Amino acid sequence: MSAAAAMAAGSRREFDFAPADHQAIAKIVYDTLGILLPEGKAQLVYGRVAPRVRACGVASVSEYLRIVAQDDEERGRMLDALTTNHTSFFREAHHFEDFVERMWPTLAQRLASGGRVRLWSAACSSGEEPYTWLMAALGSDKNAAQRLLKGDLRLLATDVSPSVLDTARAGRYSADTLRTVPAKLRATWVDSRLTVDPLLRDAISFRPLNLLGPWPMKGRFDAICCRNVMIYFDEPTKAKLQGRLADHLETGGMLYIGHSERLSPDVAKRFECVGRTAYLKVRA
Ligand SMILES: C[S@@+](CC[C@H](N)C(=O)[O-])C[C@H]1O[C@@H](n2cnc3c(N)ncnc32)[C@H](O)[C@@H]1O
Repeated sequence: MSAAAAMAAGSRREFDFAPADHQAIAKIVYDTLGILLPEGKAQLVYGRVAPRVRACGVASVSEYLRIVAQDDEERGRMLDALTTNHTSFFREAHHFEDFVERMWPTLAQRLASGGRVRLWSAACSSGEEPYTWLMAALGSDKNAAQRLLKGDLRLLATDVSPSVLDTARAGRYSADTLRTVPAKLRATWVDSRLTVDPLLRDAISFRPLNLLGPWPMKGRFDAICCRNVMIYFDEPTKAKLQGRLADHLETGGMLYIGHSERLSPDVAKRFECVGRTAYLKVRA
C-alpha cells in the first residue's frame, strides 16, 4: 500500500496507529517468530491487532504496545493474532501421493514387523495437514489401518500458535472445511458430528513449537512436511531452518516444502529433488 493510501485508511481507523507502532510490532514478530511484516503489511497488522486493542480497553496501538511490553500473556495473544494460519485438507495433495507411493510401503512393512515410524508436520496450523497425511497413508480400510495404528507410529504436529493447536486437537471441522476430503476417506475417518476419528487423533501429538527456538526432539524423522511457513521468513532464517530440518531427517527420508518455497543452495546439496517441492535426503 502506498503512503497516501495508508494515510487514507488511517483516517478511517478506530485506533491511532502510527508508522512507529507498525515498526515496533514488526520487530517483536520478527525477533520472536522470524516472520517479516514490511510496511506494505500495515493494514493487515492493524486489522489483526485492533481486536486486541479493543479487548484491552485502550485508545491507541501505542498504548496497547505498553501493555504488551509488560504482560507476556498479552504479548502471546498479539503474536498469535499475527500468524497467518491458512490451510486445508489435501492441500498440495501431490506430496501425500508421493509419500504413499515412495515411502509408505516400506514404512508400513516396518510397522507391521514391530519397527518405529516417525513423521513431523512442522507448522501444522489447525491440523488439516497431519490428518490428511494419515488419511492418505492409511486409506479407507479401517481394519488394516487399525492394525498398523497398534504399531509404533507417531506423527508429531507442531505450531507456534496455541489457538490453532486447540482446533487441531479437537479435530472438529465445518462441512465446508471437510469438502476437500475424498468421499471414501471422509466416510472412513470423519463421523456424523464432523469430528475426525479418535484413532487418528491419538496417533498425532500436537505440540507448541517455535521453529526458531530450541527443538526438544531427539530422534530423526522418516519424513517431514514443513510447508507454507518459510515464505514468511528471510533468506538466512530459511537457510538455518532448512539445515536443522535436514539434521532431523533420516538419510533416505523425505522433506516436503510449500509450492513457492525453495531449498537454499547449501541445504539442497544434501537432497535430491524427486518431485514438485519433494526432496529425498541423500547425504547426512
Ligand atoms: C500458512 S500456515 C501453513 C499450514 C500448513 N503447513 C499448510 O501448508 O497448509 C503457516 C503456519 O505457520 C505457523 N508459524 C509461523 N511462524 C512460525 C514459527 N516461527 N514457528 C512455528 N510455526 C510458525 C503459523 O502459526 C501458521 O499456522
